[in-house]
Amino acid sequence: MGSQGEGTRAITVDPESPESEPLRRAADVLRQGGIVAFPTETVYGLGANALDEKAVRRVFEAKGRPADNPLIVHVASRGEVSRIAGPIPPVAERLMERFWPGPLTLVLPKLPVIPDAVSCGLPSVGVRMPRHPVALGLIAAAGVPLAAPSANLSGRPSPTRAEHVLEDLEGRIDLVLDAGETGVGLESTVVDLTVDPPMLLRPGGITVEALVAELGPITIDRTVHGTEFGERPRSPGMKYAHYAPKAKVIVVDGPVLHMQERIAGLLYEFQAEGRRVGVMCSGESRGVYAAPVVLEYGTRDDLTTIASDLFGTLRAFDRHGVEVVLAEGVPSEGLGLAIMNRLTKAAGGVVIKV
Ligand code: TXA
Ligand code: MG
Repeated sequence: MGSQGEGTRAITVDPESPESEPLRRAADVLRQGGIVAFPTETVYGLGANALDEKAVRRVFEAKGRPADNPLIVHVASRGEVSRIAGPIPPVAERLMERFWPGPLTLVLPKLPVIPDAVSCGLPSVGVRMPRHPVALGLIAAAGVPLAAPSANLSGRPSPTRAEHVLEDLEGRIDLVLDAGETGVGLESTVVDLTVDPPMLLRPGGITVEALVAELGPITIDRTVHGTEFGERPRSPGMKYAHYAPKAKVIVVDGPVLHMQERIAGLLYEFQAEGRRVGVMCSGESRGVYAAPVVLEYGTRDDLTTIASDLFGTLRAFDRHGVEVVLAEGVPSEGLGLAIMNRLTKAAGGVVIKV
């Protein structure tokens, strides 16, 4: 099961109240050591029984994931946390109470039941309780916690639809539960609670502002702003290039009119060189750019729209065969911090400030 070359089954499931039959079939696959892609409220995950070392290794293999990048363990209730992590500090209880189920991953001291394949030898484990009814139903049906990274090939934008999962992993995984679009569109926020004060390792669906309102001051890992690669970040995943379409991405960041002016200038230069250029912009810039491919990623008025469409839009540029994507930045506040983190990584750190 889970080997390359076999077909990948896709089963449609109701996102609000998932039918028990598909959940049971997927749970059977998981209990037998298979790997199953499933929707969460952030992105699709590629799940394996977190207690089954061999199944977990299959996840790394299917994704082509570097062996030093640990997986998040997904649970269906708060009670399950104490079986995989501990001691659990009071601050963790507060965050679970306030933000679970939801897009927040807590890094806690790991208990020995979690195999090294999950944590990649770290003494800690990332734990999260997702909010999506299909994810919760699947974990409950499987009766085991699920180790699940995003269900994309390593380095590609995370999948927000089952089609994206198949685009990357068809034939490499056993099953995908298709419940349509995920919602939040960016991955969970990752907070390390093994240090004091807590440290933000990855910005995501829960904003820093919301965390600070609950906890007071936290520290922010320097990789969060997305430009530092290659050193030894506390969250190993942050050192890899990520989220990239096949085209080269250049982010331009600053006040809207300045961005528009600079992007128009760059467009002209690239087109003069005969390059096929695309622009990724907000609805507010509709009609501004004379490029062959202009894709809107949402509206600045509501950053949740940009978060939910960002990865899908990055993938769409590949279908248009562009060589260069010029992308408008957004202010790094609220969800904007996570959006800029992913955009900066997609651009391999190439951000032009105007
Ligand atoms: O929203 C999400 O978190 C999605 C859905 C499927 O739940 N999952 C996801 O997983 O984004 P993945 O594997 O693509 O990203 C996990 C991130 C990586 O940056 C990894 O390095 C970090 O979490 N991480 C996991 N365990 C860790 C640990 N023990 N210490 C530090 N960082 C950890
Ligand atoms: Mg990922």
